Amino acid sequence: MTNNIYFIANWKMYGSTSSINSLNKLINLSKLKKYSKAKIIYLPPFTLLDAFNRKFKRTKISIGGQNCHHIQDYGSFTGSISPKMLKDLGCKFVILGHSENRMVGETDADVNNKIRSALNKNLKIIFCIGETFAEKKKKITHSVLNRQINKGLKGVKNYNNILIAYEPVWSIGTGVIPKEKELEFNIAKIKKILSKKTKNKLPILYGGSVNNKNISNLINIRGINGFLVGSASQNTKKFIDIIKKTIN
Ligand code: 13P
Repeated sequence: MTNNIYFIANWKMYGSTSSINSLNKLINLSKLKKYSKAKIIYLPPFTLLDAFNRKFKRTKISIGGQNCHHIQDYGSFTGSISPKMLKDLGCKFVILGHSENRMVGETDADVNNKIRSALNKNLKIIFCIGETFAEKKKKITHSVLNRQINKGLKGVKNYNNILIAYEPVWSIGTGVIPKEKELEFNIAKIKKILSKKTKNKLPILYGGSVNNKNISNLINIRGINGFLVGSASQNTKKFIDIIKKTIN
């Protein structure tokens, strides 16, 4: 990994107002020259975005939302957050297409609408794709990835603000990570699918049970530009360890 390396902390529905106190050591690390190529992004729950924005002022650490509505600005949509609102809170990113949202009914078309709307508001997209265990067993992983990419990015013209996060659903929260060969094969497939859509080389991240132990194996995987970390990122010590072991 030579260029920028992304470390994205997806806190999901965890964290309270006191959680920000744990971030001081990470902020100190982010200021060291040695870690200048680490692009650190936090995705706290909506309730903590403002606190994180204040905490990360005058640092290079960015924040992003965990979802957004497909209507860009305002509307009568109880419980929803728009891309404009995320921008207003200092977000540079939004993660879309996460399997935890797909599992409760979000379709490829929904993801596509949200992506185009968030791009219009100049948010950078962390676009999640990945097969379920049943799909892997049926050996349809590549057609699933192909469908998710093509439908999710339909109509997108400018790929400058898109990162791909490959998260096999069976690996999320299970402690199981794909074998090296399988992961490299799937990453190569994703690159091939993308190459038919754009000349841009989009950053490709891996997510799914990344922790401070298995990171030593994951950094050897070819074609990866960073990691999307769930539960291990809620423990700042572990998250720092992941960064340190990647850039040593
Ligand atoms: P875990 O790291 O907890 O498996 O979660 C991964 C994930 O879903 C990040 O978006």
